[in-house]
Amino acid sequence: MPRILLLGAGGQLGMQLARRLAAEVELIAVTRAELDFTDATALRAAIQQANPQIVINAAAYTAVDKAESEPEAARLVNAIAPGVIAEELARTNSWLIHYSTDYVFDGSGTRPWMETDPTGPLSVYGQTKLDGELAIAAAGCRHVTLRTSWVYAAEGRNFLHTMLRLGRERDLLKIVDDQIGAPTSAEAITEATQIVLRQLAASGDDAGASGVYHLACAGETSWCGFARAIFSEFAGKQKAPEVVPIPTEAYPTPARRPRNSRLNCTKFTAQFGFRMPHWEDALHEVAAELLSPEHK
Ligand SMILES: NC(=O)c1ccc[n+]([C@@H]2O[C@H](COP(=O)([O-])OP(=O)(O)OC[C@H]3O[C@@H](n4cnc5c(N)ncnc54)[C@H](OP(=O)(O)O)[C@@H]3O)[C@@H](O)[C@H]2O)c1
Repeated sequence: MPRILLLGAGGQLGMQLARRLAAEVELIAVTRAELDFTDATALRAAIQQANPQIVINAAAYTAVDKAESEPEAARLVNAIAPGVIAEELARTNSWLIHYSTDYVFDGSGTRPWMETDPTGPLSVYGQTKLDGELAIAAAGCRHVTLRTSWVYAAEGRNFLHTMLRLGRERDLLKIVDDQIGAPTSAEAITEATQIVLRQLAASGDDAGASGVYHLACAGETSWCGFARAIFSEFAGKQKAPEVVPIPTEAYPTPARRPRNSRLNCTKFTAQFGFRMPHWEDALHEVAAELLSPEHK
């Protein structure tokens, strides 16, 4: 059983990973309360003490709009800390599984982005996440950096829960309809991560898998389409508001967001032999979990 250090275990993806991985690996799961990424010395010490074969980094500064006014806080967590982690792992020839974002792209065009396409972040968040990717590559540690999009889960702060709350409070919601991407459940990302872990375990020291991969659910929609699908999943369980499409310009935010967030995931499928579920199927699973009597 490999020893894995999971960082960011209290986030929506981190919680899923912690729950699902505990049964199959020796897992050391660490939350922000236990380890703050702004303290690089503590971060290095935690990695040295855990001495893992693999670190999974699910921690990030994810407040996209707030990052515009707190660029230094975002930089420390998203750009500096991943580089520190990668430096430590390079010394012990260990692997890093790290998550990045579609926001590293400028959102032009309509073609799904390939890993080889030029980046061009529109926001502080996107730039700091890109800088984190580059710092990992520069440190020379073996890594699987998974760029994903529009993450949500049964637990945590996300668009799904925001919609359900607003749907209870209001009769009409105006939702942006010209940003296109794939909502991706933390559950599906976790399953893909488990596949990566199994392949890394099977291939031993083979560094051939090292690199950046796109990993999002299949299919595409807009935020408006996502909102409508959410209310249709919860039809009969809670009041459904009218959902009205609006252009990005009608909903100004401090951070600019890409119009085209489509990610081409063929590289991941070719390397790891795993195809992500369609976003509507993944949403159905998460909704079923939320609606199940076991869910508190
Ligand atoms: N959410 C999305 O839509 C989305 C889209 C594309 C890619 N991603 C990427 O997917 C990964 C997982 O994100 P997520 O959706 O699970 O985000 P999340 O729910 O916001 O989780 C991020 C975790 O990082 C922690 N964190 C923040 N600042 C920290 C610090 N200074 N030190 C240590 N931990 C800190 C947070 O703690 P607190 O909760 O206490 O702040 C939280 O537990 C990230 O790499 C993110 O960039 C997310």
